[in-house]
Parts: sequence; structure tokens; C-alpha cells
Amino acid sequence: MEKITIAIDGFSSTGKSTIAKRLATALNYIYVDTGAMYRAVTLFALNEALINEKGELDAEALIEKLPSLELKFVPTGELGRSEMYLNGENVEREIRSMKVSGQVSTVASLKEVREKLVQMQQQMGKDKGIVMDGRDIGTVVFPDAELKLFMTASPETRAARRYKELLEKGEEVSYDEVLFNVQERDRIDSTRTISPLTRAKDAIEFDNSDMGIEEQFERIYEFAKRVIAKD
Ligand code: DC
Repeated sequence: MEKITIAIDGFSSTGKSTIAKRLATALNYIYVDTGAMYRAVTLFALNEALINEKGELDAEALIEKLPSLELKFVPTGELGRSEMYLNGENVEREIRSMKVSGQVSTVASLKEVREKLVQMQQQMGKDKGIVMDGRDIGTVVFPDAELKLFMTASPETRAARRYKELLEKGEEVSYDEVLFNVQERDRIDSTRTISPLTRAKDAIEFDNSDMGIEEQFERIYEFAKRVIAKD
């Protein structure tokens, strides 16, 4: 059976990565979380003091330093799981912090950052057999993907999910802060000039505000199997 490319886009905390990871495991495909890549570049900018206390980014300095930035997904050994390494260091935990979430949309709006990461993503998916999630996968990275999904859910549902996750990780944060961050990222991600978050014309939309992600996964998996069988 031919391998296909599966592109999953959508707003933050819509369950994209849960569905993408499970699909990749079930199909024995590679899973790539492109948000982790934008998050790692943001962490790099923070570590290099390229973002000041007011949250202003020195974009020029970051662009200049981009060639010295090495990103790698390293498999953990657990089926379908890998962790993000930035210049040889495991940053999987740090890139999920609110500090990074608060700045990532600004970093992700830079053309040079997007060019570097999109090129890496296209390279990772050149042999197909990949499930990639992000904001521009079906529109820019793999416009010819055989299966495109676009995930949505209400901001309140998404903020509640993210808040629970952060509390479980021991981060001190309020629900209102998380809701604000979710809405602010939606706004910046969908209104930026380069590759804004939009649904590809041929993407299938799934709203999981009122549906469990597991239940939704079952439907999507059946659908993916049909697409693969036809290909
Ligand atoms: O999926 P996530 O919430 O971890 O992504 C973090 C941010 O990275 C998101 O707010 C926008 C940006 N992003 C992007 O611009 N393009 C992608 N393909 C993936 C993420």
C-alpha cells in the first residue's frame, strides 16, 4: 500500500497533536510536531537575550543567528514519541512553558524563521508516510497532501485543556492567563502576513468542542484508512 502525507492544521490546543500522534502510531508513520520547532526557536531567542523584559524581539539579531541553531527530534524509544533537542540539549519541557507560549507567535511571524523551518519540514516528509501538525501544513508545507484536516474548538474549551495540562506539569498559572494567551495566539497566527493560519480549501474541518478527542480519533482513523486504500 502506498504511503500518504497527512496534514493537520488548526488553532492551539485543539487536540491536533493527540490525534496526529495516535494516527502516526496506528499507521506506523512518522509524526512531526511543527509547533515544537517554532517553540524551540523562541526558546533560543529567550536564552540568547534577544527578547527584552517588555517582550520586544530583536528580529535582526535572531535572523543573523539562525544558521547557528540546530533543531533535532530525537526518538525516546517509546513508540511514536520523540523529543525536541536545541543545539544538542533536550528542551522538550522548557518549550511548553508559558514564557515560550507568550512569545512564540511573534517569532513564528518572521519570514526567515518560517523559510528555515518549512524547508526542514519538507525534507522530513519527502518520502511520505508522515503525519505533520501545525498551522500551515496543508496550505504551505505540503499543499499536495492526500489528507488534510483542520481542527477547531471554542477558545474556552481549548483554554481549559491547556490549563489542566500546565497544572499537571506544576506550572503556576491562572485560567484567565491561559485563555488570554490562547486568544492572543489565535489572533496573531491568523492575521500575520506570511502563511497565516487558514483552512486549506480541501481540508476537512473537525470541531471537537463537544466531542472527546478519542472518539474523534476513531472517526479520523477510519477515514484515513479509506484514503490510503484508494491511493
Ligand atoms: O502547535 P503549538 O501551539 O505548539 O504552536 C506554537 C506556535 O507556533 C503557534 O502559536 C504558532 C506557531 N506555529 C506556526 O506558526 N506554524 C506552524 N506550522 C506551527 C506552529
